[in-house]
Amino acid sequence: MSLSPQGIIPSILSADLTRLGEQVQEAVEAGADRIQVDVMDGHFVPNLTFGADTIAAVRRVAPAIPIEAHLMIEQPERQIESFARAGASHLFIQVESTTSLYRTVTAIRKLGCSPGVALNPGTPVEAVRELLPYIDLILVMTVEPGFGGQSFIPSSPDKVARVRAMAPELDVEVDGGIEAQTAATVAEAGANLFVAGSAVYAHREGIASGIGTLRQAVAPYAR
Ligand code: DX5
Repeated sequence: MSLSPQGIIPSILSADLTRLGEQVQEAVEAGADRIQVDVMDGHFVPNLTFGADTIAAVRRVAPAIPIEAHLMIEQPERQIESFARAGASHLFIQVESTTSLYRTVTAIRKLGCSPGVALNPGTPVEAVRELLPYIDLILVMTVEPGFGGQSFIPSSPDKVARVRAMAPELDVEVDGGIEAQTAATVAEAGANLFVAGSAVYAHREGIASGIGTLRQAVAPYAR
């Protein structure tokens, strides 16, 4: 597995949901590398958000762009098939959310999707070591998941560096409080994929500026 080129990945959690289709298309036209759909069940995290139907809707307005489904849900093994059928390209599960991690990430690959595992801020890097041969990506949560617009956890760059050291050949993605300044710190530490909700959809100069600002901030650290 070789690293993906640096990627800026808008999260629709912070989009204007009254015109989600337009907001997705605007991000695609502005050069977003992927779109992330934050799936939350109100149990694994306190918030309740999107289901497989939203993935299908995003796929309809953006047929070509890779769609990541970040499953912040209990027992994700029960839902992966519906998200794969809906058009997700990448399925990320939380290491804290199931006792059958190996079975679930291998099932994701069998469904034709790219598997990744996400680590909450309090979960040690070691929790994913045994899964490295079976996944394409490690997602380092730089906030406690559940809501957009939270503050970046300052110790995150150190954790990203330890994940990168453990998995030099895998994609390392970050998510939560990512804006130009924080993106640069985690890019320097080893991240190559950057999820941003507020920094894109709430950017004062619009979506294209939000994406461009992030891309400029991480460019010096491309691997
Ligand atoms: C977990 C969510 C958020 C979202 C990004 O809470 O996954 O991290 O994607 O939100 P911002 O970029 O606004 O922190």
